[in-house]
Amino acid sequence: MIKIGVFGYGKAGQAVAEVLRHDPRFELMWVARRTSTDQPETIPGTAVPIIGLDKVVLSEWLDTHPVDALVDFSSADTVKIYGEEVRRRQLMLVSAISAYSETDLDYVRSLGNDTRVLCSPNMTVGINFLILAARLLRSIAPFADVEILEQHFRDKPEVSGTAKKIADSLSIDNEHITSLRLGGIVGHHEVIFGFPYQTVRIIHNSIERKAFGTGAAFALSELANCERGFYTFDDLLMHKVRKQLAMA
Ligand SMILES: NC(=O)c1ccc[n+]([C@@H]2O[C@H](COP(=O)([O-])OP(=O)(O)OC[C@H]3O[C@@H](n4cnc5c(N)ncnc54)[C@H](OP(=O)(O)O)[C@@H]3O)[C@@H](O)[C@H]2O)c1
Repeated sequence: MIKIGVFGYGKAGQAVAEVLRHDPRFELMWVARRTSTDQPETIPGTAVPIIGLDKVVLSEWLDTHPVDALVDFSSADTVKIYGEEVRRRQLMLVSAISAYSETDLDYVRSLGNDTRVLCSPNMTVGINFLILAARLLRSIAPFADVEILEQHFRDKPEVSGTAKKIADSLSIDNEHITSLRLGGIVGHHEVIFGFPYQTVRIIHNSIERKAFGTGAAFALSELANCERGFYTFDDLLMHKVRKQLAMA
């Protein structure tokens, strides 16, 4: 069983911890957040401790509460606290942080010289699969028209970053993104390929933040079978696809 520590216990971290806690391949050892409460805290209904990095010396905590892997859903700063521990102890790292500066990202990449690191600004299996499938179809049918439709809740002001990433990965302009804002839609991304005599639609719908946990679990289980290095979600999906093709 892979022992895990999670950084970040906000909206995403709570959902991710919940998924990892219930996955028999993993043992969730602890969760770390920025600030601690006066009383020792645990995840409700469990003995899993929630620690505040304001009161704990991480290297001492890791000596007494060892883990095999860290999962980061906190903020871009946190890697500066745990980075050298990851390197020294050769812990696997799954980082979901999307706001790294180029310098931070270079540092995270450098951890891949010493251990196994996955860093992805999108941690859902579904969106990453959608991008892979859309890229494949685009290479098969470069003549087809491509449009991206994204739908989100009424108050989301900006164009979806995921939709822009899909456009970028297909080398199409952001002008080909249509945004609809309706009620409480969590997240809908659709890539539409218009062929002369047929239409192909690849659709992803987000239901809950727990999808980030499913993605982190996939990343951890794949990383466990990788050599040390820095990986994207795409790299891990392609490992899986190649394995499947080799077995076929
Ligand atoms: N790649 C993906 O698919 C994906 C998906 C969702 C979220 N994310 C990323 O995950 C992060 C968290 O998102 P969220 O919506 O859950 O935010 P949030 O609700 O604001 O929660 C942030 C959590 O991180 C903790 N934290 C922040 N800085 C920290 C530090 N320096 N050391 C330790 N803990 C720290 C906070 O501690 P306190 O509780 O003490 O404030 C809080 O628990 C963001 O960077 C977001 O971009 C990525």
